[in-house]
Amino acid sequence: MINRLEKIVKETGSKQAPEEFYIKVSAQGPYLVYGNPPIVQETFVPNKEGLPWEYCQGLKFDYTTKVAALCRCGASKKHPFCDGSHKEADWNPEETSDKRPILEDSKEYKGPNLVLSDNRKFCALARFCDSHGTAWKLAKKAQTEEEKELARHSAGYCPAGRLLLYDREKQEVYEPEFKPSIGVLEDPTLKVSGPLWVKGGIRIESADGESYEIRNRVTLCRCGKSRNKPFCDGAHVDKSRFALPQ
Ligand code: FES
Repeated sequence: MINRLEKIVKETGSKQAPEEFYIKVSAQGPYLVYGNPPIVQETFVPNKEGLPWEYCQGLKFDYTTKVAALCRCGASKKHPFCDGSHKEADWNPEETSDKRPILEDSKEYKGPNLVLSDNRKFCALARFCDSHGTAWKLAKKAQTEEEKELARHSAGYCPAGRLLLYDREKQEVYEPEFKPSIGVLEDPTLKVSGPLWVKGGIRIESADGESYEIRNRVTLCRCGKSRNKPFCDGAHVDKSRFALPQ
């Protein structure tokens, strides 16, 4: 019998969390979270440009059950937990994301020192990439340590991991260190609740039993509207309200 766990792919620069941590996408209902990772509200904090640049941790969502069921349909009245409302809600639970490694479909933006890889399919519209002239421009021009640090911040704070930054000379991927944990994102500037921010290489298993690529940072849809389920594609945001990033 093929052991499906042996086939798991890890993104460059990502490590898998200990095996007890994983999330199972149930076919018709919630995300089932194993391993008891902390689940904490994280709110975007804007900078002087009015764009998200930091996170502020808030409420910790305690749960005493062995498995936490987190809503993915958007209809629960006990967010972030599932309260069974998915059974009556008008939503499509189908997982529409393929399981290809994110870098296979990424575009690269090269500068003298840095390379930014970008896969727009995974954009959660968190907009950390829009400050300081945008992450793409920062990566293309960064030469001084200060410029490189801005590029690292801009790409590395992207909760969805759409953006990945490499140092060309050192052949090194810049990835923030995370413990296995889940952030429940809130975006007060746009007055919307964002996706679930899954950090630290927690394995995500599809309802069909196969795992998605292990990544250090991913965002899972929790409004039920994404066209790239289980991942967030920014569908929780009214896109007509602002100019989209490139
Ligand atoms: S998935 Fe159960 S209430 Fe949303």
